[in-house]
Amino acid sequence: MGMNTLPSEWLQPLVFRDGRSLPNRILPGPMDGVTEGSFVSVLDAAGLAFSWFTPFIRISNGIPRRARLREKLAPYLATGKPVIAQIMGIYPDYLAETARRLHEIGAVCVDLNCACPSATVLGSHSGGYCLTEPDWMVEALTKMKAACGTHAISVKIRCGFYGADEIPDIAAVLREAAPDMVTCHFRTVRELYKPVEAPYSRLAQMHALLPGIPFIGSGDLFSVEDAQRMAEEAHVDGVAPARGLLKNPALLQEIAAACAGNPCATLSTEQRLALLNRIGEASGHRRKDQGFLLKIARVMFGEETPEFQQLLEDISGKT
Ligand SMILES: Cc1cc2nc3c(=O)[nH]c(=O)nc-3n(C[C@H](O)[C@H](O)[C@H](O)COP(=O)(O)O)c2cc1C
Repeated sequence: MGMNTLPSEWLQPLVFRDGRSLPNRILPGPMDGVTEGSFVSVLDAAGLAFSWFTPFIRISNGIPRRARLREKLAPYLATGKPVIAQIMGIYPDYLAETARRLHEIGAVCVDLNCACPSATVLGSHSGGYCLTEPDWMVEALTKMKAACGTHAISVKIRCGFYGADEIPDIAAVLREAAPDMVTCHFRTVRELYKPVEAPYSRLAQMHALLPGIPFIGSGDLFSVEDAQRMAEEAHVDGVAPARGLLKNPALLQEIAAACAGNPCATLSTEQRLALLNRIGEASGHRRKDQGFLLKIARVMFGEETPEFQQLLEDISGKT
């Protein structure tokens, strides 16, 4: 196949209605418990991300105080890079006011999570459950937009709750609510992380039903080749790899290089280990963060590898 090429359009800034923007359309997929704190600071120091997409901030019994929201965004804002702040909840009025506050604090976009498949989240009727409530989705997104004026509102979805035959109905909801960006994982909520048939044709179908709305693809983006396949078959406007960042923290960089038509250097094992060590140092090797470090290492290297075993030894030596 020769050198990988990806759409150069993915390198274009995504400029929102209020003039704020993302530098490109290559976003780090949000991961609760992972793309936070030390992970963000290390990725940033190594120059491996262009913008941030926070994991969901749960809005349950009320509107969080500004101080708490500021604290949530602090590690991301500290990098000086644009931040998409994600929220999740069930009361549209709370979500709307929280979104307004997050924009005030400095988010460039506030995203509504309608995708999370965790049993706890579904049990509380938020996250992916929202896909079963089209009227609720329109109300929540419309109220968020109204509260935020010209500031950007986006939504993260999956291609259905029970089945991908829900795509046209979900798209109709989104056309009515008209968010400024949509990020779409090709699986349905019920499919969790199982393999699915023809994933990209689902994304293509959803995207085609959302003319004029920037459409970011998500799902199984572990390499430049994966991004290339998604680009070719689903014509997405950008990508948000998530788990792939744990295996290869330089993935966003490599995708950007391929968009520019440049050959991309891949990280060596030593470099990945060095990054992991820096994440460990940034988290201060505190007891509660070691599980976090190991979680990342397990994905980055695999449990059977000498690198992982070495890390286990290092860590147990420090407790
Ligand atoms: C540990 C973990 C935590 C996640 N947390 C979030 C989250 O807070 N918000 C969200 O929209 N998606 C979340 N996701 C979903 C990812 O952003 C992404 O859509 C999904 O994992 C599919 O992409 P991937 O195959 O590249 O990982 C999470 C995924 C993982 C694995």
